[in-house]
Amino acid sequence: MKFVLAPIADFTDPPFRTMCFRGGADGAYTEMVSAAALRHGHEATRFLLEKNAGEGPVACQIFGSDELDVAFAARAVDAVGGRFCALNLNAGCPMKKIVRTGAGASLVSKPEKVEKLLRAMKENTSLPVTLKTRLGTHPGETTVFELAGAAEAAGAAEIAVHARFVSEMHSGAPHLDILRDLVSRTRLPVTGNGGVADRRGAADMAATGVDGVMIARAALARPHVFAEIKAALSGAAAPPEKSPKELFSEHLALVLEYADSLAAAFPHARPLPRGKLAVLKTRTHLFRYFSGVPGAAAVRKRLMSADTTDEIFDIISTI
Ligand SMILES: Cc1cc2nc3c(=O)[nH]c(=O)nc-3n(C[C@H](O)[C@H](O)[C@H](O)COP(=O)(O)O)c2cc1C
Repeated sequence: MKFVLAPIADFTDPPFRTMCFRGGADGAYTEMVSAAALRHGHEATRFLLEKNAGEGPVACQIFGSDELDVAFAARAVDAVGGRFCALNLNAGCPMKKIVRTGAGASLVSKPEKVEKLLRAMKENTSLPVTLKTRLGTHPGETTVFELAGAAEAAGAAEIAVHARFVSEMHSGAPHLDILRDLVSRTRLPVTGNGGVADRRGAADMAATGVDGVMIARAALARPHVFAEIKAALSGAAAPPEKSPKELFSEHLALVLEYADSLAAAFPHARPLPRGKLAVLKTRTHLFRYFSGVPGAAAVRKRLMSADTTDEIFDIISTI
């Protein structure tokens, strides 16, 4: 059973993916990449196609609603040469700005369109093409069987299913009964996603017969959740736990390296300088390592007001 890190916009960049691979993930996804932006030459979008040397298999996820856009994106991803293990289509993101363009969750009710987009991708890449989607628009409107059929017809290699409806956004228990039904009805390998945070959730998901389990939010503050779950499922001892401070420092070092690598690779696109990226990631992500520890609120407050890498280092040294 494979345990993979889900695509999470603004989070699953090379530093965080590296943390998750070190924490036992068997695979990961990029953040979603706009096919239209790639086609229109938006250089900063190409940052999303970067990968660290120390990472394991990463699938590149694109979103789009236009066959020419996704075909172009497929060629662009191919052109970065062997960096990715698969090219995935996002047919599940409920964000208004994505749905408005006919992409993401808008595709959940359009299996024919999904088939066309997957075919366009497949004709333009040497990578396996995969789909990530949801169960349907809302309970009672289950379309995942048709979506899996579309993926099969287009020659996709796998389907990842967030076992919730679009109307449920990211909350509520996953509908494992529908997932189980899907597994028995499709020829494609299925990766199950939704609400897995521990051994129990993973075991329930695995019991549906899925080939892999995908984890998103539970990994944000616990990138080692993959190793923990694997150990618990196999009855092995839990892996040694890193302290919040160790996790924070390790992740921060990766962010600084990543900022330097972006600056070297894209001298004209002005990626955020290392200090600014470190502050941004600390405020949006790294502070989470301290949640649940005594004094977390105070640490978080201090980290949120830090404006430079030196200030961040000073705060961390006192913890
Ligand atoms: C902040 C945030 C950003 C997300 N970004 C993406 C994305 O870029 N592509 C995607 O397919 N799903 C995205 N998702 C959905 C997750 O991949 C996953 O399907 C969902 O969070 C359910 O998994 P979980 O219950 O383990 O969190 C996002 C979810 C969150 C909370």
